Amino acid sequence: MKKTHKIWIITLFPDFFESFLETGLAGQALRGKRGVDLSVELVQLRDFSESSYKGVDDAPYGGGPGMVMRPDILKKALWEGVIEKGQYGEDYKDKLHVVFPGPRGKRWNQEVCIDFSKRIWGEESKDLVFICGRYEGVDERFIQNYVDEEISLGDYVLTGGELAVMAIIDSAIRFLPGVLGNRESFEKESFNGGLLEHPQYTRPRTFEGREVPEVLLSGHHKKIEAFEKAESLRITRAYRPDLLEKE
Ligand code: ADE
Repeated sequence: MKKTHKIWIITLFPDFFESFLETGLAGQALRGKRGVDLSVELVQLRDFSESSYKGVDDAPYGGGPGMVMRPDILKKALWEGVIEKGQYGEDYKDKLHVVFPGPRGKRWNQEVCIDFSKRIWGEESKDLVFICGRYEGVDERFIQNYVDEEISLGDYVLTGGELAVMAIIDSAIRFLPGVLGNRESFEKESFNGGLLEHPQYTRPRTFEGREVPEVLLSGHHKKIEAFEKAESLRITRAYRPDLLEKE
């Protein structure tokens, strides 16, 4: 039986996700076109505001610049927009994994991504809920009570969680069985066993005086494999020596 996975996204900007959900490999997978039953539900946070102007934020206690997203409205969106709508019931905590992307979260990389994908969709078999933060932040009490995992893309601050959510989904669904073809789905742990990809070449054979390496034209598979391995090491040494030091 085909496993069904649902991804809920609570956001003030559902339009952000439109082309992401329509195009490319992620788009295909998310529309159930790549042998996996994966679907996305966008939840407009503003729909859960009870104020006449549909506000979802307020000034921070203690003062300071910017606005903070209210925990009661986020909770209402999670309850009514996800838990009730998706009929998860009282034991929703066993069925949902709530992610809040933000700069203080766990640093996302290929290893963390593979682990996340296998854990959430494999062992735990849960549906995902992403909370997209905006403004200066989200009330800490909502995070404490409802968020299972905080994830950071890196040491910089985005204006909102939407881009981070797309990056997390895009990289994680590659490790759902069936999304990629055979070759890639057996991709070794982390980048190619801790190394960067070797450079790639296509036609024309000569481009602005630069030739495609001769060995790649030889048809000699063993030699090509050895060359690509050496190139992978050379590129890693040149671009990301820190990856070699980790070994
Ligand atoms: N939201 C704002 N900044 C972020 C970051 N660095 N990673 C993930 N989500 C974010």
